[in-house]
Amino acid sequence: MELDVESFIGGKVAEIKKTVGNKRAICALSGGVDSAVVAVLVDRAIGDQLSCFFLQDGVMRQGEPEQVKSTFAKVGIDVEIVDVADEFFAALKGKEDPEEKRKAFRDIFYTVLGRIVKESGANFMFQGTIAPDIKETVGGVKSQHNVLEQIGLDTSAWGLEKVMEPLIDLYKPGVRQVAKAMGLPESVYNRMPFCGPGLSARVIGEVTPERVETVRKATKIVEEELKDSGAFQYLAVLLKDQATGITEDGGRKFGKIIAVRCVESKDAVTAGVTKLGWDKLERLQQRICAEVPGVLKVVYDLTPKPPSTIEYI
Ligand code: XMP
Repeated sequence: MELDVESFIGGKVAEIKKTVGNKRAICALSGGVDSAVVAVLVDRAIGDQLSCFFLQDGVMRQGEPEQVKSTFAKVGIDVEIVDVADEFFAALKGKEDPEEKRKAFRDIFYTVLGRIVKESGANFMFQGTIAPDIKETVGGVKSQHNVLEQIGLDTSAWGLEKVMEPLIDLYKPGVRQVAKAMGLPESVYNRMPFCGPGLSARVIGEVTPERVETVRKATKIVEEELKDSGAFQYLAVLLKDQATGITEDGGRKFGKIIAVRCVESKDAVTAGVTKLGWDKLERLQQRICAEVPGVLKVVYDLTPKPPSTIEYI
């Protein structure tokens, strides 16, 4: 069914106003389009009764917290950046197993979120949960970190009366339409998917500040080089193995391996690999080896989904 964007916006704004009344609400932004739309809807409904914040968890891409702050400032919303990177790195320390890393990320995320919500004194929290999040959870496809019932969290302990999910009936194209209609820039409404655990999902093995910095630098190059590719998603991953290289005097040295992934997809359920040109692949290799300290080998991942996933954990 075709989405009537203006009546959706009007309906949600009225509903939010009625529910929140003169109380306070909070919204955690991720930088993604879903939470961005929610924040703009709530801001339109209740203005200054809303507090927005962004968790600087240490595994964001280069400049991401500042970009989120300046994007929202342009639509009149103040975003507080809360630096919790040390807590995230402490929670991830020593963990190598992919599922253990995801679970550690999720647990620390909700510990920190709960604390911030409680301190804010908010009565309502708004989340950007959308229809596929629930569908995939119910269908057992994957566990979504924003489906709170699944995690078994009792948000009344955070002082909340209610968690509200105004986008629960929408799919991604509908969310993008609403984002555009509400004046968010294209960098938000057409934003490439970026997973919740951020760059920690793109470091194989232990997640340390140094290893994240390596993948952050490689990610910046991959995003710069492939921004006009039209691909669904592109990313860099730091592998755990060591590459052997040669020094200028013919000796041996050892270094890091970066995998580059670039895929075509409609819905992320299946994906094919983008047939990048040889010149582009060579440029990626040259730039990553030259600009990311310690990298001695760059590989391009040729595996579609299935059998592989898009991310590496
Ligand atoms: P996979 O790796 O399962 O990813 O093929 C499919 C799509 O989902 C994104 N992804 C996530 N998004 N939280 C998110 O919000 C997550 O934990 C998460 N894990 C994967 C991934 O980037 C891809 O677009």
